[in-house]
Amino acid sequence: MERSELLRRYACERERLRPLAEKDSPAGEYLHPVFGAGALPSPVMLVGEAPGAEETRLSRPFSGRAGKHLDGLLAATRIPREALYITNVVKYRPVVRTERSTRNRTPTREEIAASLPLLLEEIRLVRPKVVVTLGNTPLWAVLALAALPPATVGRLHGRPAPLRLAGAERELFPLYHPASGIYNRSLLPIMERDTAALGEHLVKAAEIVLSAPSDML
Ligand code: URA
Repeated sequence: MERSELLRRYACERERLRPLAEKDSPAGEYLHPVFGAGALPSPVMLVGEAPGAEETRLSRPFSGRAGKHLDGLLAATRIPREALYITNVVKYRPVVRTERSTRNRTPTREEIAASLPLLLEEIRLVRPKVVVTLGNTPLWAVLALAALPPATVGRLHGRPAPLRLAGAERELFPLYHPASGIYNRSLLPIMERDTAALGEHLVKAAEIVLSAPSDML
């Protein structure tokens, strides 16, 4: 039931994005959105920023380089990927196009705002107890959905915070984006500590580790 409802929502998003692709040099890979995937329902939902090139090619969130880093982090928590639901705030790859290349860009505030209703629906249907945000964009989005003031991952990372979201009491657990350590190696030990804290918290909070998913998307 959640599965068919989610698929319906994703189909609506595909329709919303289609006209955006009609510009000469569109600022996103609007015709190839990447939707959430994983266990349904799931006690833990991971939310990233937006797919990159590899995710767009494979239609799977976190399947490229950032996904490898995410797998490394998850291995440290001993939580199998299949026990989670993984999605992004913005469902298409935002890009800057030049004659020579197509590069990723950070989504604009307007793009994030336009993506919030679908993210809220995903949270409602996946019913996570813990929402793990990966970087500043998803943290900003989830705080906005909970009608809380914006804050940076630098301030909130590595510890749970209660919040009311999509009609239920849940927990927010902000992490740095898995790719942050590529650009700033001094973050690596902090990210490792945060991930260990998440692992310990999930075992306590969500009976998550080995509970079998009832359905997969
Ligand atoms: N970065 C993200 O935030 N999401 C992905 O799916 C891949 C990279």
